[in-house]
Amino acid sequence: MTNPSSRTKIKKEISHIALIMDGNGRWARSRGLPRYEGHAQGLRTLRKLLRDLKNLNINYLTLFTFSIDNWKRPKEETSKLMQLLRKFISNDLSELHSNNVRIKVIGSRNEIPKDIVDLIKGAEALTVNNTGLYLQVAFNYSGRQEIINATKKIAIASAKGEIDPNKIDNTIFESNLYSAGVPDPDLIIRTGSEKRVSNFLLWQLSYSEVYFEECLWPDFNKNKLDLAINDYNSRSRRFGNVINEYK
Ligand code: IPE
Ligand code: IPE
Ligand code: MG
Repeated sequence: MTNPSSRTKIKKEISHIALIMDGNGRWARSRGLPRYEGHAQGLRTLRKLLRDLKNLNINYLTLFTFSIDNWKRPKEETSKLMQLLRKFISNDLSELHSNNVRIKVIGSRNEIPKDIVDLIKGAEALTVNNTGLYLQVAFNYSGRQEIINATKKIAIASAKGEIDPNKIDNTIFESNLYSAGVPDPDLIIRTGSEKRVSNFLLWQLSYSEVYFEECLWPDFNKNKLDLAINDYNSRSRRFGNVINEYK
């Protein structure tokens, strides 16, 4: 992985933004369109935002694109969402690569079609040495499952005598998560007006600043991102400490 310290930082050390891109279905329905049209528009919004991000020195961006819980939706919709990921990788990979973006897909690979697994592996391999934006794509992702998966890996290593159970700490735990090596998000933005995290990055969000944006994902843009970052810049992050109280 690229050394994060080599990346330029923007004001107030905002290094990592996570996005819950919610509201595609409602966007489509409010226009009398089928839900998949909302997802297609959501992809256009994402493409535009990634282009606009070029001048913003964010080091890491994590996108919630499909949750394991989303398999509860009708097959008609999940097939369209799989198709959109195929489209995203085939149409956008070369541009992202030429912009020095590194792609990492986090989540379970068990339930996803084999051709998509191959596309993901290809995108990760192509961009592995890129040193620009680290784009972490949560696809077929569940925060609880990530924690269970890490616990299993650590338990197996302990049973083999490779890890002393008494020495299990944050560092060991984090190194077994899908997001190993990536710092926790500084700011998480959820569009679409819901006030919940919906099984996203449950471990990593412990001290992230949370920002809820009312607009539906297809209506999100760089100006709205700037508003969220300005809001972040006005906050005081204390991590449990007290600041300027004892002199
Ligand atoms: C987010 O939009 C995209 C995915 C969950 C894949 P939704 O499809 O959840 O849109 P709403 O929340 O129903 O409007
Ligand atoms: C969260 O949105 C998942 C993604 C944006 C991919 P959902 O629409 O699935 O979340 P809930 O069901 O409203 O909690
Ligand atoms: Mg939703």
